Amino acid sequence: MSAGARRRAGVLVSGAGSNLRALLDACAAPDYPAAVVAVASNRPGCPALALARARGIPVAAIPVGRVGGDPVRRDAELAAWLGEHGAELLVCAGYDRIIQAPLLERFRGRILNVHPSLLPAFAGGMHAVEAALSHGVRVTGCTVHLVDEGGIDAGPIVAQEAVPVLPGDTPDRLRARIHEAEWRLLPAALASLASGRLIQDGRRVRVGEGPA
Ligand code: GRF
Repeated sequence: MSAGARRRAGVLVSGAGSNLRALLDACAAPDYPAAVVAVASNRPGCPALALARARGIPVAAIPVGRVGGDPVRRDAELAAWLGEHGAELLVCAGYDRIIQAPLLERFRGRILNVHPSLLPAFAGGMHAVEAALSHGVRVTGCTVHLVDEGGIDAGPIVAQEAVPVLPGDTPDRLRARIHEAEWRLLPAALASLASGRLIQDGRRVRVGEGPA
C-alpha cells in the first residue's frame, strides 16, 4: 500500500512500549493500512517514547505539570500537536491518563484503547492483572475498545482475546501472556479501523468485509 493511502495514526504511551512496538512492526508490512506518524506521552522519560524516537517518529511529551496541572489544557495541546502531524486516528497503547474533551472531539469514533482484561471485568485501573488473579478467575485476557465520553474502559468493544489463568501464575507471568495477546489484537484492531471496516451499532461493533 502506498504511503499516501495509509491512514495516519497518532499513538499515546506512558510505559514500556511493547504495544507501540507491535504497532510499528505491523506498520512495516507493505499492505498494512495505517502508519504511525506521531507518538506522545505524559511521561518524558518513558521507554515507549525512546522507542519512537529511535525509530525516527516525531515525539512529544507533555507532563500535566507543564500545563498548570490541567489535563484539559494538556489534551488541547496534544490535539493541536497531533493535528500538525496529520494524525487521523488515535491509539492509546499503554497510556495511563484519561482522554479529555479536546482529544475526544478531534478524534471522535477514531480512538482505540487496549486494556489487560476481558472488559467489563476489571475495568478502570492500572491493576487489572493483579485484580483478575486475586479474584480467582480462570480466564482473563485483553480488550481493544473505542474510547468515548462514557467512562474509563467503558467504550464499545472492538476485539477481545481470552487468556487462561494457569495454576501458580504470578502477576508477571500472567501479564506476559496477556501482552502477547495484546500484540496480536491491537494491530489487528487498528487495521480494521484504518481500512474503514469497523461498523458500529450503538455499543456493538463488528468488523465488516469492506469499508463501512
Ligand atoms: C498493556 O498491558 C495495556 O493493556 C495497558 O498498559 C500496558 C502497556 O504495556 N493499558 P506496554 O507499555 O505497551 O508494554
